[in-house]
Amino acid sequence: MIAATDIQVTKVEQSKLKDISLDNIPFGKYFSDHMLEADYIDGEWRNVEIKPYQSFLIEPSLSSIHYGQAIFEGIKAYRDAAGNVAIFRPYENFKRFNTSAERMCMPVVPEEIFIEGMKQLVEVDKNWIPSTKDHSLYIRPVMFSTDTALGVRPAETYKFFILLSPSGPYFAKPMKILVEEEYTRAAPGGVGFAKNAGNYGGSLIAAKKANAMGYDQVLWTDAFEHKWLQEVGMMNVMFVINDTAITPSLEEGTILKGVTRDSVLTLLKEMGLKVEERRINIDEVMEAYKNGALKEVFGTGTAATIAPIKELRYKDFVMSFDTDSWTIAPQAKKLLTEIHNGTAADRYNWLVKL
Ligand code: COI
Repeated sequence: MIAATDIQVTKVEQSKLKDISLDNIPFGKYFSDHMLEADYIDGEWRNVEIKPYQSFLIEPSLSSIHYGQAIFEGIKAYRDAAGNVAIFRPYENFKRFNTSAERMCMPVVPEEIFIEGMKQLVEVDKNWIPSTKDHSLYIRPVMFSTDTALGVRPAETYKFFILLSPSGPYFAKPMKILVEEEYTRAAPGGVGFAKNAGNYGGSLIAAKKANAMGYDQVLWTDAFEHKWLQEVGMMNVMFVINDTAITPSLEEGTILKGVTRDSVLTLLKEMGLKVEERRINIDEVMEAYKNGALKEVFGTGTAATIAPIKELRYKDFVMSFDTDSWTIAPQAKKLLTEIHNGTAADRYNWLVKL
């Protein structure tokens, strides 16, 4: 059993921070001075260390690049005005990471490495947390298989690592979304609920098609009728119809169990909205738009936080919104941001302080 105190720490001689301004930086482009790394060998996790951010040396036969045993998470750390650092709901990501691991026949990562290692890494690089509005330190835990063999089977060896990326918002402007009805992201029995790398690779072709049509992303639909709404791929989706916020339910296993999704549902209830997690199809959304009941549509995700959708298109039918006049998504974002930044009480115990 690895204790957090067993993590060997080797620090950089000189920080790269002096060459970077953390104001107005893009999402996921810069990486902090250090990373955490651990190896799974002979049925146990070993070599847990925090060390200078560096390359891996890999063999061409590395199993994960052939057969896709690779999973990840996205988490954020914030600093309050007094300089205290907190990580937002990392235990939820820890649980989801190990759910993804089980689906992909990979070993689970113990809390001592995932949570305690993350806390120690963030402590080492806490000067990398930006203080600019809508910025944070994005934490990216990843596991991939490291066997060097071409047989198709669950690997016996894995690497787990965590990197840190000071980041601005993923989507700075309200989005234009195309409802996808050609390609499929996930079907019941598949891997849609897991945060495995292949889900993202498989989604690129639809996003490319949407981009060519002037849209930012697609809204995925079910595999059979291409009517039932799933998620935006990098975000869960919510529709405010009259005084009810509706979001696709989790039980079919085709969408990600978003941590921001859950946080926003909690805040919407606090704001007095009714909340429904259920199947919702595009006909219901179009009908609500036509009769004026569809008030707001937005995405929720760790990277995106709460991202307003200003245009939603299904076939030739375009639904446009004046996002400047919205009240619900902006209020939910305000409440969430205040908790992140420590300017409001952490009334749901979402922050894990260092
Ligand atoms: C996140 O919101 O953390 C995600 O994983 C989306 C990402 C692929 C950028």
